[in-house]
Amino acid sequence: MATESIIVKDDQIFILNQLLLPTKVSYDRINGVNDAWNAIHQMKIRGAPAIAIIGLLGVSTELSKPDVEAQFDQQSDRLYEFIKQKAEYLCTSRTTAVNIRKEFNELLNFIQQQRQNNVSFALLIDSIRKYCHGIMEKDRMVNKKMAEYGCEHIRKNCHESKCRFNILTHCNTGSLATAGYGTALGVIRELHSNGLLEQAYCTETRPYNQGSRLTAWELLTDNIPSTLICDNMVAWLMASKTIDAIVVGADRVVANGDTANKIGTYQMAILAKHFSIPFYVASPLSTIDPTIDDGTKIPIEERSDLEMKSIGSIQIAPADMKCWNPAFDITPAKLITGGIITERGVINPDQLIQSYPV
Ligand code: MRU
Repeated sequence: MATESIIVKDDQIFILNQLLLPTKVSYDRINGVNDAWNAIHQMKIRGAPAIAIIGLLGVSTELSKPDVEAQFDQQSDRLYEFIKQKAEYLCTSRTTAVNIRKEFNELLNFIQQQRQNNVSFALLIDSIRKYCHGIMEKDRMVNKKMAEYGCEHIRKNCHESKCRFNILTHCNTGSLATAGYGTALGVIRELHSNGLLEQAYCTETRPYNQGSRLTAWELLTDNIPSTLICDNMVAWLMASKTIDAIVVGADRVVANGDTANKIGTYQMAILAKHFSIPFYVASPLSTIDPTIDDGTKIPIEERSDLEMKSIGSIQIAPADMKCWNPAFDITPAKLITGGIITERGVINPDQLIQSYPV
């Protein structure tokens, strides 16, 4: 089992504080919606699936407080409005990843169904809490399925004569970004556990360094053969070594298959096309947003220029320099040449909505 980014123990929620990695493993307690919002906003926890999970668990902790029945006067409509409002608030913590909104929409539908079934207030609370906690197991199963489909597709479609593959990935999509195996990193884990991985290459992922701080740490912890490169080495890596496939994660895949993912993904996809290397996006169905037709309408989070001008307490650019720091970019569907790996199979981006109406 890979490192756990979220631990539920005696009904208490803890997250691995990713700001302290790779030098310190330390868990912070999440005791309510405000803690969850701050942890996501400060990027103590990040990655589209993990953001959604901690959002729901944050709401669940609110419902475990002793005075909860009195707080809503046992009125299920008040409880529903409370959760709806908290969901809206939590969705403001980071704006590009769609999973948190989709998971809350499903939770709100579930609550409405329960209300229609006239369950008692105590049972309603109990069922909501169970639903929120259940998202962790669901994510683990989704991760495993994606890993199996991705591994099989790469085995069958990339360089048939080969028995071990070199895979390049970007950012962090592993157990730190999910409740389980990971998405793109889950595919790499699966290749490794089937004896099919030669080498995983991961980029540093400037400016926040999720690749060097988090992915490199996960790969080493799991003894997966791996090599770290700087982001500006990707073209030369492809030119000078054999890269069999690129597998990245996603924060939002829209109806036409255009995909938002960590800044730097787009340039990798362009290079993959140049070198005829299959480019895969590992995206659970919870990352697919059919309400947006194409990538131009995806909101892109822009972050503080301090992330670019310093590393820890060390200044690396003139303090007064103007910067532009988009946290994500959009890869056009036509560059996703390997396919989109989901928990229901690997699909062509242009058949996304026909294949899997979500
Ligand atoms: O800014 P981050 O670290 O939250 O960005 C994470 C990514 O871009 C991941 O590739 C994506 O969320 C998928 S995680 C399974």
